[in-house]
Amino acid sequence: LTTMSPTSKLLVDIHTHVYLPRYAALLRSRAGAATVPFIRTSTTSEGLAEDRLLILDHEPSGGRPVGPQYWDREEKLKFMDKHSIDISVVSTANPWLDFLPASQAHTLAAELNDDLEQYCSTGPSVSSSTQIKRLYGFGLLPLVPEITTSVLLDIVNQISALPHLRGLIMGTRGIGNGLDDGALEPVWAAIEKAGLVVFLHPHYGVDSSAWGDKDNGHVLPLALGFPFETTTAATRLILSGVFDKFPNLRLLLAHSGGALPALSSRLASCIDHDPVVASRLKHDARYYLGKLYLDAVAYGPEELGFVSDVISRSASYASGASASKVPNRSTGSKRMLFGTDHPFFPPLSVTDKWKSVTENLDAIASVQGWSEGDRDGVRGGNALALFNLQG
Ligand code: URA
Ligand code: ZN
Repeated sequence: LTTMSPTSKLLVDIHTHVYLPRYAALLRSRAGAATVPFIRTSTTSEGLAEDRLLILDHEPSGGRPVGPQYWDREEKLKFMDKHSIDISVVSTANPWLDFLPASQAHTLAAELNDDLEQYCSTGPSVSSSTQIKRLYGFGLLPLVPEITTSVLLDIVNQISALPHLRGLIMGTRGIGNGLDDGALEPVWAAIEKAGLVVFLHPHYGVDSSAWGDKDNGHVLPLALGFPFETTTAATRLILSGVFDKFPNLRLLLAHSGGALPALSSRLASCIDHDPVVASRLKHDARYYLGKLYLDAVAYGPEELGFVSDVISRSASYASGASASKVPNRSTGSKRMLFGTDHPFFPPLSVTDKWKSVTENLDAIASVQGWSEGDRDGVRGGNALALFNLQG
């Protein structure tokens, strides 16, 4: 970067993944494993060797082709330069450590957190006149069955002591019983106290029998299964009262919160009419949506506008509130943050920029009712504040 942009104009990608070399090596070592995940080398119809990544149960289409985009930091930086992305907050991609026995998950979490700190700290800065780096990261917890609370708390401490790690990414299974598991309460408490951002990201989708028997590639699990998994996990967290117990917990939902924004009033109504749940929470369910952060990986301006409307109504649903329920898109936009999902969704034919990136940038640029300041916030200003990236 030759010219220094004012920090209010930085483009920050908060949804961008890596399979760190140590993790990719583990996936390769599992090439002959009976169950996913693994990376295996197969031969294309032209007789060329090609690495393929298989991570989903019932993986469609023989997995996805993978290459250096998935592990090489230089490729991440080239991708960032191509799309004028100043800063990336990088996370290990799914399925994290979910498939490992507890002792191995523990060791690998600690190693990968150190690796990611190195990846960020030895990388470039935004410009010569600032301490702000181009790479920050989300660490990993060894969230697997039979892990002990004290190990989880140690790893939270490790992440919070690594200066370039500003949060942690997690899937939806917790230590086997989901994220509404009471056993995780000390972990939420420690994360809240450390001020780390939890990036909640899907992997398992929903029961694949819902997809029928036509070959639709990866479309149904990625377009519908992933966001619905996030919807379910976030809803269970709300129902468990996590946000009443840990009001300063900062939770970032992948893919603009999936279907939760569209279903939040129905959720509130179902709670109100359910004798088991009606008096459990301090607030109307819609209040808790305003506690969330959501990426802006929704690919359309109407969706981004709608999501910002829904988030902005939160305050009017605080218990006892009498505030107006007129949505305020500006207010809602403050909790939304640009992301790319790189290296997933590469173009299928040679193009300069990736459509999966430009479509999200175009969407941010054209939401009705967002000011230029709101758009700059979603592009980067909100991330600088959330992850405390100033200087
Ligand atoms: N596909 C995945 O497996 N993970 C992502 O994050 C995006 C697409
Ligand atoms: Zn992702």
